[in-house]
Amino acid sequence: MVTTMITFSVNVIMKVRRTSGATFDPIADLYDRFASLTQDRFRRWITGVLPASGGRAIDLGCGSGRFLDLLADRYGEVVGVDASARMIDLAQARFPAVKCDVGDLWEATPERLGVFDLVLGVNTLHHLGSDPAAYLAHVRRLVRPGGQVVVVDVVRHTPRWAANPVAYRVYRLGRTVRGAVRAGVAGGSVGDALAAVRLKRHEQWRNLAADAHVLSRQEFRREYALAFPGATFSDAVESSVCAVSWSAAPGE
Ligand SMILES: C[S@@+](CC[C@H](N)C(=O)[O-])C[C@H]1O[C@@H](n2cnc3c(N)ncnc32)[C@H](O)[C@@H]1O
Repeated sequence: MVTTMITFSVNVIMKVRRTSGATFDPIADLYDRFASLTQDRFRRWITGVLPASGGRAIDLGCGSGRFLDLLADRYGEVVGVDASARMIDLAQARFPAVKCDVGDLWEATPERLGVFDLVLGVNTLHHLGSDPAAYLAHVRRLVRPGGQVVVVDVVRHTPRWAANPVAYRVYRLGRTVRGAVRAGVAGGSVGDALAAVRLKRHEQWRNLAADAHVLSRQEFRREYALAFPGATFSDAVESSVCAVSWSAAPGE
C-alpha cells in the first residue's frame, strides 16, 4: 500500500515536472540544420528586446546554440544549458568561449549557477512539464533584481475542425510542407527542404511532441502574465509562437 502510494506520488511529480526523458540527441543535427534556416524572425525580435550590454546571461535549453552569439555580443558571461549532449557538442564547437553544459533545467538553480541579468528560453519551456506556474517560478528564481526574462515558445493552434481526424492530418501535412518550403527557400536547396521533412517525420520528433505540454496562446499569456506581472507580449514573431519580455524591478 505504502509502496503503491510512493510510486503514485513519484509518477504524479514526474508527470507535472518532467517529460519521459526522450532526448533531442538523435535529431540534434537535423534540428540544427532546420532551425538555423528558420531563425531570422526570432533573432530580430530577441535582438530588439535585449539591452546593448549586460553582465551574466543564460540560455535555458540552448540547443545547438543558435542564439548564443546574440548573447555573447552583449553579455560579459554567457552560459548555455541543455539536456541533450549532442546539442551541447554542436553549441560548444560553434562557440568555444561560451560555457555550455549538459544538464536538466530543473537542476539549473541560483544555488548552483547564481543569478542572471538575462534568462532566455526559446522553444524549450514547453518541455518542462504540465505545470507552467511551477516552471515559470523556477525560471523567475534565476533572474537577479533588475534583470530580464525573455521567452519565445511554441503555442498550440487547434482549428475548430481539428476534431475531424482526416482534416487534422491534412492540416498537419500542410504545416510540414510549409516548413519544408521555408527551409528550402532559406537554404536554397532541395536538401534543406527534405531535411525539414525528415525532422518533422522523425519518430523522436513525434515522441518529443507527444511528451510536450504546449499552451494555447491565451493560456500562454495568462500564465506568463501571472508569473511576470507587467510583461510585454508579442504575437508577431511567427504564427506558431508567442514571445514575452519581462524586466524585474531593481529591488525585486
Ligand atoms: C526545440 S529545442 C530548442 C533549442 C534552442 N533553444 C533553439 O531555439 O534552437 C528544445 C531544447 O530544449 C532542451 N530541453 C528539453 N527539456 C529539457 C530539460 N528538462 N532540461 C534541459 N534541456 C531541455 C532539448 O534538449 C532541446 O535542445
